[in-house]
Amino acid sequence: MSGKPSFYITTPIYYVNDIPHIGHAYTTLACDVMARFKRLDGYNVMFLTGTDEHGQKVEKSAAAAGKSPLEFCDTVSQRFRELAAFMNFSNDDFIRTTEERHKKSCQALWKKLEENGHIYLDKYAGWYSVRDEAFFAENELIDGKNGEKLAPTGAPIEWVEEESYFFRLSAFEEKLLEFYESLPPTVLPNSRKNEVKSFVSGGLRDLSVSRTSFNWGVPVPGNDKHIMYVWIDALTNYITAAGYPDVESEKFKTFWPADIHMMGKDILRFHAVYWPAFLMGAGIEPAKRVFAHGWWTNEGEKISKSLGNVIDPFNIVEEFGLDQVRYFLMREVPFGNDGDFSRQAMINRINSDLANDLGNLAQRSLSMIFKNCDGVMPVPGDFSDADKAILSAADGLLAEVRGHIDVQAINKSLEVIWKVVSDANGYFALHEPWALKNSDPARMATVLYVTAEIIRQVGILIQPIMPHSAEKLLDQLKIPADKRGFDQLGSDHRLSSGTNMEKPEGVFPRFVDE
Ligand code: MSP
Repeated sequence: MSGKPSFYITTPIYYVNDIPHIGHAYTTLACDVMARFKRLDGYNVMFLTGTDEHGQKVEKSAAAAGKSPLEFCDTVSQRFRELAAFMNFSNDDFIRTTEERHKKSCQALWKKLEENGHIYLDKYAGWYSVRDEAFFAENELIDGKNGEKLAPTGAPIEWVEEESYFFRLSAFEEKLLEFYESLPPTVLPNSRKNEVKSFVSGGLRDLSVSRTSFNWGVPVPGNDKHIMYVWIDALTNYITAAGYPDVESEKFKTFWPADIHMMGKDILRFHAVYWPAFLMGAGIEPAKRVFAHGWWTNEGEKISKSLGNVIDPFNIVEEFGLDQVRYFLMREVPFGNDGDFSRQAMINRINSDLANDLGNLAQRSLSMIFKNCDGVMPVPGDFSDADKAILSAADGLLAEVRGHIDVQAINKSLEVIWKVVSDANGYFALHEPWALKNSDPARMATVLYVTAEIIRQVGILIQPIMPHSAEKLLDQLKIPADKRGFDQLGSDHRLSSGTNMEKPEGVFPRFVDE
């Protein structure tokens, strides 16, 4: 193998009952940023996304669309692949739960759990929500508008009474509570970890893990009257893609346990309670971290199909630009918190952070180099204290950014980068290179060189967030493709003087609202 450290990150696999919206794009984007960051930081990365295609919910949606389940899944799954390409996501694999490799993996996991005595046959009687694909206890239900009982998520429920296999979840309480205390943190953000802990310490009931009332799923090995509960099937995708059941394979040994399962807060319980318990039951190590991010609202309102305010990622990218949308989603909201999507906030970020702060700094300094330094990167003179201060701020960025990325504080990583951008603007304004053209051309050359060097480092660091724009900036600086990794950051790899430059073109246009 490569000798590099490995890093495995996953998105939830998306239900194909619905076309992709901003929530899906957001989760995958965060993973894409993490994956790109780790690759640039020297890791051997596996980044997985895909579609969750079994279960009653999908079966019903297919029927409503007048298609066979598989035909229906093929179409919608394809739409998620298109979204990934369109958003420039760098996933290494795209898994569909209807694939043969996955069926094999689910059945192997099931058999292992059965062999280890964690699965037994009994009867289930209780409430089920198809929309959530989850069982609920009586005391969890809420009252609907017309006095009807609803799932805690507001979804309709139905009474289910059937023979069912159960997983001995109750046996894993202590092990799970121990798992939540391990370091580095296994569940983030902390507030979410506390929620999970209190749920588990409140006592766990065994979990119904098979259904007999529908067909669209993976049959239970040895009893195909039963279809596996869609969540055991879905969660297993994470090990399928790592090569399970071949636990001796190079791939599995390299990438399992996964480093991060990323998801929205709505599905944390499945990932932080059920999934580690299944794995522990099968004698497989759980993933090292589960991170639950917040939810977006649209102009202050909850996003829902019935309100008709679903945000289509294809549309906003058409309107605002891909890197702009990627930047906004990662910058606007502390990662982990809920956030509000508003046009005005998007336009402000585009015009202030991107066009004014970084865009202008790059455009002004590079144009001056092109015009006033005979089109070549100048040779700097001795660095003044001010030069050294701004350079050392840029040189220190990687360590700071890495610290934030290690705990998925993606927005903070951008804040520290933009602090340097803003200081560099201050530096540029204070030293007025345009006024030095005739009076002190050598000093002008130094100020321009220092500014360009800041842009080089910022350009390298923002590649995970805005791959296209960063590429344009680094192209303008004539940084060779093999000199764009994070090993090139800091003072050892300053810009080469004497390189021929071209007339630069603005990378971050202002957004003019019509
Ligand atoms: N199929 C399950 C996951 C199985 S993983 C083994 C599922 N799929 S989903 O299609 O509903 O998509 C879930 C992801 O989209 C979640 O991470 C969820 O939080 C995210 N979002 C859906 N709407 C969202 C917002 N409004 N805002 C942010 N993310 C949201 O659950």
